[in-house]
Amino acid sequence: MKLHNFNSGPSILPQPVLEEAAKAILNFNDTGLSILEIGHRTPWFQDILNEAVSSVKQLMQLDDSYEVLFLHGGATTQFMQVPMNLLDDGETAAYCDNGIWGSKASKEAALFGNVVVVADTSDKKHSYIQKHFDIPENARYLHITSNNTVEGTQWHQYPDTNIPLIADMSSDIFSRPVDFKKFSLIYAGAQKNMGAAGVNLVVIKKDILGKIKRKIPTIMNYQKHIEAGSLMNTPPVFAVYVSMLTLRWIIAEGGLAEMEKRSTEKADLLYHTLDSLPVFTSPIAKEDRSQMNAVFFLSNPELEAPFLERCKKEGMIGVKGYRTVGGVRVSMYNALPLSSVQIFCNLMKDFALKNS
Ligand SMILES: Cc1ncc(COP(=O)(O)O)c(C=O)c1O
Repeated sequence: MKLHNFNSGPSILPQPVLEEAAKAILNFNDTGLSILEIGHRTPWFQDILNEAVSSVKQLMQLDDSYEVLFLHGGATTQFMQVPMNLLDDGETAAYCDNGIWGSKASKEAALFGNVVVVADTSDKKHSYIQKHFDIPENARYLHITSNNTVEGTQWHQYPDTNIPLIADMSSDIFSRPVDFKKFSLIYAGAQKNMGAAGVNLVVIKKDILGKIKRKIPTIMNYQKHIEAGSLMNTPPVFAVYVSMLTLRWIIAEGGLAEMEKRSTEKADLLYHTLDSLPVFTSPIAKEDRSQMNAVFFLSNPELEAPFLERCKKEGMIGVKGYRTVGGVRVSMYNALPLSSVQIFCNLMKDFALKNS
């Protein structure tokens, strides 16, 4: 049976990336060595890193005022590393709490300075994006989560600010063209649209660094990572390699405009099907729906278990909602083919027919 991978992360990767990575595990570029066996200070790895960095800059259309880092620790480490580097004791940062990840980020930042949560959508279980809010005049930066993986909402137009804008783009990075220059810092765990788990992309506008007095542990210090070219210590070589291959694939397929075209087609089909079948219901504000993660429920909660069971039986992987949210979550990242969404929608229609 063909499996359809709707996992929220780690998630589906492009088939050519998997094939190339599998070859490289046995014999990387005809070196006679596995990619798992090469040193991180070899010219081979330097070439991988250089290509990954230049692909990010190409896709984001960034100039040399930005630095691109590949770091350890998942996006969760960035929840701490961002304020540690940018927010001095007693200073204020503004955070948008539009979901579980933004909420976690704001709590970590509060360990380092004053956090003002300027937008909080918990009143409606984070089913929308709060777009209008006041930012304290003394805020050092505004932090947003561009796509709320768990709740299924996404910023479709980023807020305008006159202070540095920082985004956790873990779950929609490279899924659409964005004016990346709007941001002073972007971070993303690789394991959804960019590669394998184990590495973080961090893009930093250099002029925001060096403004605080706190002593920063070396491994947490962005400036030191820039000076070391992401090679301060042993990087996750294989994860960086898979990211490089995925970035190469995105560029070869037509770049971010093409990724957006495909995502829109998949999301439109999914949401159109959802809206046409009363057996399903979605609390998410239509204008804020995520193109990456569609979250919805069965109108009759008793049908949730049979629906999920049927998905499982028919090879639909990863469609159970997040553990604190429940319901159904369908993740449609870059590598997911339209055909998987078509097959899932057919299942939805058939389930509706038999249960209404
Ligand atoms: C938007 C967002 N931020 C942060 C995280 C946490 O990432 P990690 O597990 O890499 O720390 C996730 C994980 O799914 C996420 O979706």
